[in-house]
Amino acid sequence: MKDKLPNRLHLVVTSGPTREFIDPIRFLSNPSTGRMGYYIARAGANKGYRVTYISGPVNVQYRTVKGVKKNISVVSTQDMLDAVLDNLKENTILIMAAAPADYRPVIRYDQKIKKKDVPAIELIPNPDILKTSHEKIQSEKLKGVYLIGFAAETNDTESYAKEKLVKKSLEMIFLNDVTAKNAGFGTDTNQLTVFRKDGTSQVWKTEPKERLGHKIIEEIESWITQHS
Ligand code: CTP
Repeated sequence: MKDKLPNRLHLVVTSGPTREFIDPIRFLSNPSTGRMGYYIARAGANKGYRVTYISGPVNVQYRTVKGVKKNISVVSTQDMLDAVLDNLKENTILIMAAAPADYRPVIRYDQKIKKKDVPAIELIPNPDILKTSHEKIQSEKLKGVYLIGFAAETNDTESYAKEKLVKKSLEMIFLNDVTAKNAGFGTDTNQLTVFRKDGTSQVWKTEPKERLGHKIIEEIESWITQHS
């Protein structure tokens, strides 16, 4: 008989935004609060998983999850990538609920830019954490690693979610339309649609993020139980 999943698999859950500093007091970021990732990590820990929780700069109530193996705080997308790669071993489920900043300034000024010196800020792309994780899995031939993503979209939501599922080599992706009522960044509730690697999908009703944390863990468990 197969081992119970929490005995066999480690969970790595990311949450929140990241920050890319322009100078010591200004940064690029986004409105993610970390709430969805926090509740996923908490649901996983309650189910008995060894959880590594990696959060970007979030409010104190979403910074640490009780009962997890490790709580790690990071600032930039590169920091989050480093923390994820450090904890990505065989038999791991990586749930990327974070909203990492996609770009960073080419130049980070050491001193505060003065108001009169309006800067032209040139940006370069950050690494993609899911894609880089997939490359590590391939190059180190890691077994039993499952990549789970989220898609925050405003338009053409379904086609972008499906495209990310394939491009990022995911088992499943949870789509949230950030323009929908009671869904998206900073809300208590969320409305998700899950798209699985086998082409199936399911629209979920709007529910509190705390409840969705449990549902997401159950959805992933059911998928892995059927496909491993
Ligand atoms: N993600 C990631 N690394 C990044 C950016 C995003 O691993 N540098 C992950 C997110 O955590 C999420 C998924 O990729 O699970 C999709 O993120 P999203 O912001 O919707 O898409 P992007 O890949 O950033 O693409 P775009 O901004 O063009 O929609």
